[in-house]
Amino acid sequence: MSMQWWRGGVIYQVYPRSFADGNGDGVGDLPGLTAKLDYIHSLGVDAIWVSPFFTSPMKDFGYDVSNYRDVDPTFGTLDDFDRLIDKAHALGLKVMIDQVLSHSSDQHAWFVESRTSRDNPRADWYVWADARADGTPPNNWQSVFGGSAWHWESRRRQYYLHNFLTSQPDLNFHHPAVREQMLSEVRFWLDRGVDGFRFDACNFHFHDAKLRDNPPAESSGGFMVSSENPYRMQEHRYDNTQPENVAFFVQLRALLDEYGAASVGEVGGENALATMAQYTADGDKLHMAYSFNLLTPEFSAAHVRETVEQMEAKLAEYGGKGWTCWSTGNHDVPRVMTRWGKEHGGPSFARLVLAMLSTLRGSVCLYQGEELGLTEADIPFERIQDPYGITFWPEFKGRDGCRTPMPWRADAPFGGFSPVEPWLPMPHAHLTQAVDLQSEDRNSTLAFFRHFLAWRKRHPALQEGDIRFLDAAEPLLVFERTLGADRYVFVFNLGATRETWTFPAGLKLATVDGHALRGGALGDRRIDLAPHGGWIGRSCS
Ligand code: BGC
Repeated sequence: MSMQWWRGGVIYQVYPRSFADGNGDGVGDLPGLTAKLDYIHSLGVDAIWVSPFFTSPMKDFGYDVSNYRDVDPTFGTLDDFDRLIDKAHALGLKVMIDQVLSHSSDQHAWFVESRTSRDNPRADWYVWADARADGTPPNNWQSVFGGSAWHWESRRRQYYLHNFLTSQPDLNFHHPAVREQMLSEVRFWLDRGVDGFRFDACNFHFHDAKLRDNPPAESSGGFMVSSENPYRMQEHRYDNTQPENVAFFVQLRALLDEYGAASVGEVGGENALATMAQYTADGDKLHMAYSFNLLTPEFSAAHVRETVEQMEAKLAEYGGKGWTCWSTGNHDVPRVMTRWGKEHGGPSFARLVLAMLSTLRGSVCLYQGEELGLTEADIPFERIQDPYGITFWPEFKGRDGCRTPMPWRADAPFGGFSPVEPWLPMPHAHLTQAVDLQSEDRNSTLAFFRHFLAWRKRHPALQEGDIRFLDAAEPLLVFERTLGADRYVFVFNLGATRETWTFPAGLKLATVDGHALRGGALGDRRIDLAPHGGWIGRSCS
């Protein structure tokens, strides 16, 4: 490959609790994942990103780390991790792991010490502040998971900051020793052979040192936040995305460069596109920024076009070297087949979403189960695990619906995920989409994913080429990818009705085959599209 693997690469996200259970306790683990690496390899992806498997009390299912340098017993041991790396590398798969640097668990030894007094050696490792004169928290900052971002600690008679759960205290990145420590946690895994990292909530590393109040929001929206959540009512000017973070990324990148490792930073917030461009500019900070912008409930050709065009404009504004990682699903949002597909989300919709996502300019993150076309699961309240869902029930049911176990075998108990009842239910509807059934069916969604990703890999214009959108009326999305003399045109029908795109007179198009995308036909100066159909052509003009 002419470029670094991550530029234009495809990364498969594994949520290890729900991928494969190797020891039969109802929860997925590293040996289970290692046993399924051949399957992941068969998809034709370049890398896996494994959600956290570090020691944790699991209040936020691993995004609350109590020891950054070990594997939680639920998931296995460090030896299991070494075996995972060895097998992945033997298959030619890169391994990226999730690093949650912004906050730890309240059970991490650093916090246990920090909370005991105002003058212990780690007293300033977290963000502590006095109450206001009336006893209320130091400012108006809100937690992403609802309520004040401050929690009272009676031993210190002070509040500590938590941008997420109260059990996820925020590390104080203004303290040089904390920055050094977090870099050395990252180095630990580099020494163990990982190829890269996904940096969780990485625009939350720093907070405003003056603890200024956030202003009210002019428009609502942003990071992983449902409409019932008061977090949306503020502009998050001071609690995240502070300027000091940029210098930290330069330090982090220097460390990654020692090992040739790659990074993708999860960047939310009001001005996410600009922040993403800034954090990936100049080749001396993050390699890629993970976009939330296609994880939205909104779905239209205009939304996709505006998002990508605005991102491209921001990348250009910051010097043109930055890079995006696009995704339509992860472990935090309802599955795309339901979120965007609604009642129309069948196999042709799954094909359309993959084809569109993986032909945009950038890298791609696929979430486990998307290759099967899985829909969002409906979890009864008694089985809900996500604390975020418990807080906002019933208006918002949390994130469990996209975290249910992978269905491996249609006829096996619990879909072959585990011999015992899994930590989240195996949805009955998912069994008809199990891996074994789809592997035998040449027309399945899974077969299409494999075919399309292999086709994509053979076309350097899709990894490296420029992107330009052409005008077309909703629900059609039309763009070109160009590299040198190679010029491909993509026409996608995002709607559930038949559509026609009449193309400009000067354009000469020829159909490209071999990708298995269906539902588009070239006519006289027009492309006819079936519902959710797509067409790929070469531009000869
Ligand atoms: C992760 C979430 C997690 C949060 C706090 C996120 O962005 O993807 O699953 O709850 O960070 O760590």
